[in-house]
Amino acid sequence: MATAIQVEGVTRRFGAVEALCRVDLEVSAGERVALIGPSGCGKTTLLKVLGAQLAPDEGTVEVLGRNPLLLNERELRALRSALAFLPQDLGLVPNMRVIQNVVGGRFGKRSLWGALRDLILPGLEERRRIFALLGRVGIAEKMYDRVDSLSGGQQQRVAVARALFQEPEVLLADEPISAVDPARARQLLELLVGLCGEEELTLVVSMHQLELAREHFSRIVGLKEGRILFDREADALEAEEMRALYELETEV
Ligand SMILES: Nc1ncnc2c1ncn2[C@@H]1O[C@H](COP(=O)(O)OP(=O)(O)OP(=O)(O)O)[C@@H](O)[C@H]1O
Ligand SMILES: [Mg+2]
Repeated sequence: MATAIQVEGVTRRFGAVEALCRVDLEVSAGERVALIGPSGCGKTTLLKVLGAQLAPDEGTVEVLGRNPLLLNERELRALRSALAFLPQDLGLVPNMRVIQNVVGGRFGKRSLWGALRDLILPGLEERRRIFALLGRVGIAEKMYDRVDSLSGGQQQRVAVARALFQEPEVLLADEPISAVDPARARQLLELLVGLCGEEELTLVVSMHQLELAREHFSRIVGLKEGRILFDREADALEAEEMRALYELETEV
């Protein structure tokens, strides 16, 4: 199977903090991986490196066969538009409508004029696509509602629709289920994993809930203090490894 993501020896520092330390990770095209680990272990930093949003200090990154550091601005924009990033804070514009936020997912691919026109009034074909996409994430009736009138869980669905509207090859989701209750978290994760399966997208999702991760992902990567502690088939994960991952929180 083709390789979608190849990370070798990646280190990233913020001042004295080593957020990532010699991280190696390879993800095949179409594979779905959960990235777990306690707060501050480097999940967001790693996802940003994978999303070509943050450069490593050391090591190499190849996403979809390209090293972001070697690309010119136009090539980098093209690469980023193939990588949808669902940020931890969702990155939605609260005082705009759902449809406008979803359309925003395509800005990387449009000319400025096309993007502005979309923002003012998406064409009929676009509106049909958005309606269908919102239907798939279960909030079609909210298409013309303002984002700040929706619940946290509904806003997460808007962010998922926005990412998919971009028609990416890789979806990087940073704690997409953190703001909802356990039942909705499971539902949203099912939706995300299901949609990515249908579209054959490569999916990397960070989260804290190990049990949910094991339910929905066959491969689990555990990150602790910027290092990969384990990278396993979910079924092969041992209690000792899981304990070691959580241990950090009591140590600190
Ligand atoms: N922009 C930044 N400036 C300074 N330090 C940073 C920055 N981004 C991350 N860090 C530090 O790098 C480390 C890893 O942070 P990161 O946000 O990747 O963790 P995380 O696993 O996503 O945590 P959480 O689960 O709380 O979201 C932390 O110690 C954090 O303080
Ligand atoms: Mg984070």
